Amino acid sequence: MSDRDRDGAAAEAIAHPNIALAKYWGKRSFGHNLPAVPSLSVTLEGMATRTRVVLDAAATSDTFLLAGTVAPDAAKVRVVGLLHRVRQRAGSSLFARVESANDFPTSSGLASSASAFAALATAATAVYGVDASDAERSSLARKTSVSAARSVLGGFVELRAGIEGDVELAAVQLAPPEAWEVAIVVAATTRAAKETASTEGMAHTVATSPYHAAWVDYAPRVFEQAKAALAARDIEKMGDAVEASAFAMHADAIAARPTVVYWNPGTMAAIAEVRALRKGGLGVWATMDAGPHVKVLTRAADADRVRDAMRAVPGVVDAFIARPGAGSRILSDAASSSR
Ligand code: PMV
Repeated sequence: MSDRDRDGAAAEAIAHPNIALAKYWGKRSFGHNLPAVPSLSVTLEGMATRTRVVLDAAATSDTFLLAGTVAPDAAKVRVVGLLHRVRQRAGSSLFARVESANDFPTSSGLASSASAFAALATAATAVYGVDASDAERSSLARKTSVSAARSVLGGFVELRAGIEGDVELAAVQLAPPEAWEVAIVVAATTRAAKETASTEGMAHTVATSPYHAAWVDYAPRVFEQAKAALAARDIEKMGDAVEASAFAMHADAIAARPTVVYWNPGTMAAIAEVRALRKGGLGVWATMDAGPHVKVLTRAADADRVRDAMRAVPGVVDAFIARPGAGSRILSDAASSSR
């Protein structure tokens, strides 16, 4: 396809956040944005990023609108980086107009970068006419945001640790969304954006935390437990791995100098409620990412009860149920012209 044919082409993609049941935290030192530890996640329906990319032969640079307004430079740089890789792959020199919107809070620890770059990798490859496999889109998304590699795939997803020489590391699906009747209850504990982005938080942890070597040693074992629990559909075993992973990751970050604490009082209250519910016999396990929200793994049949209980916790501003969902996909294809 030539740039003359591409001019005016548009594509729109949708992608969902994912929650890591076994977390990644910290990158390898040999470049290419490679994770130091393996991770296992579930992609969620219910929350979504929609991203539209339009090619414009008259444009002299890329433009990026987030929720209808010009995005901050830090966000634009990452978008342009991904577009640049796709242009190289496609042999194109056309600039793009990118419009993206989330139906959930951005940069708050609800994994907006994961859904954002999975959606962008999907829309951009389509609009530039690159016939990209899931693995190619996942690797492309991963180069900008490691967790985004996982949102390209639906259901339960693995991303192995990077090794020296890896360039095209991609996530793989372990089981489709309907394979396991579980739910994640998201208990949001603030409406504000987080203070420390995950990229900075983990780089600082790697550089200064005395516990980081222990985390890198420990995380693969917890990941193996999570993977075995998924294969056996054993939610008790998965729940145990989920909490082990989350608390070890946060212990690593909290030990950084100065500390990286993502929690707020609502986080602690929500964790206490999860423990109380579990004591009362409910199968519930807590996990937290680079933000103060608490995500609760539970059986799908118990999700309504868990959501209602989490809503009643002081400091929890909202709670909602997210079920396993699909990977990133095109909503309207590149053939449709915007003009
Ligand atoms: O890929 P990033 O920069 O969004 O970092 C994600 C880090 C965690 O969400 C805390 C853990 C994970 O594996 O998703």
